[in-house]
Amino acid sequence: MKTQIYDVRNKDAAKAEEIGEAARVLKDGGLVAFPTETVYGLGADALNSRAVSKIYEAKGRPSDNPIIVHICRLEDLQLLTDDIADDVALLAKEFWPGPLTMILPKKSLVPSVTTGGLNTVAVRMPDSEVALELIRQSGTAVAAPSANISGSPSPTKGEHVVADLDGRIDVILIGEDCRVGIESTVLDMTGSSPVILRPGIITKEALSRALSKDVEIGGGIQEEEAPRSPGTKYAHYRPKAEMLLLKGRRRAVLNEIMRLTAESGNKKIGVIDVAAESPAEAAKSFFDKLRQMDAAGMDLIIATAPDENDSVGFALMNRMLKAAGHNCRSVTEGEEEASL
Ligand code: TXA
Ligand code: MG
Repeated sequence: MKTQIYDVRNKDAAKAEEIGEAARVLKDGGLVAFPTETVYGLGADALNSRAVSKIYEAKGRPSDNPIIVHICRLEDLQLLTDDIADDVALLAKEFWPGPLTMILPKKSLVPSVTTGGLNTVAVRMPDSEVALELIRQSGTAVAAPSANISGSPSPTKGEHVVADLDGRIDVILIGEDCRVGIESTVLDMTGSSPVILRPGIITKEALSRALSKDVEIGGGIQEEEAPRSPGTKYAHYRPKAEMLLLKGRRRAVLNEIMRLTAESGNKKIGVIDVAAESPAEAAKSFFDKLRQMDAAGMDLIIATAPDENDSVGFALMNRMLKAAGHNCRSVTEGEEEASL
């Protein structure tokens, strides 16, 4: 398949002909990759089951992994769900457009391929002019998972999408690099109290404050198995290189990195020093760094851990643990002594 690649950086989204063209492709049942503030999405008409099935094929995505549906205005929520509770309306008003996805009871109009066979639908309104204009002009709601080959690091730059999907989809819209860099917070609003199924930069504290009530973090979210959000059970974000996360006091961790590097023989080791930046900065560039390490042919990636008491650090650690296949070690002071 020939993929049309349109660069819409520095263009006025409302006037860009390329976005109009991409919207027509969506309306006709095609696949369009587009930027959002979190990561690039791979979109199809959410209400067209044939179109949505093509997403699974292009990404190599397991078909029981439901897809987030993107809307461009609040009224369109009614297309997808009947049941807009006060809390849902409140969070939508407070955080949309933005990196918050809410799980809601679905209307029968939403095809079951879009929701992986579930009777709930995940909805968000992205905070990107290009994305909002594309959705608006398509005249529908847009189902879009991250625009990468399933299992590989999420795409935060147009070039990542081209590397993974050129030749597999109809259109790639290249916009600005994603400013958040990790995917939206997924919040289940279908139970008696709201539960975070995937952490993101919209934090538990911010959600609790807005709702004036407790928001839970789903059980097992940082563990290898987190059964409530179907997508979380699959291998995610994996670089080609082996990856090791090191937790612990800064000095101990740096000493351990030096020790491992000294002992590495002819193994190529790359270091991602997440702890040296703020969690938000580190989150913005993390997936790009994984791709750079692979491009440089590293055999092992060692990463320092963010502060997990910080909510954004916690969300980033969630991605890092998956990227490393949960290969994470705490470096103790004892090891530090030994290596001095
Ligand atoms: O920031 C984002 O959310 C990006 C951009 C493109 O919007 N999208 C994204 O989609 O990350 P994806 O498909 O890579 O992740 C969707 C997550 C998966 O973990 C999936 O299992 C969960 O949301 N999900 C979707 N629908 C669900 C539902 N009805 N119930 C529970 N979890 C759901
Ligand atoms: Mg994804």
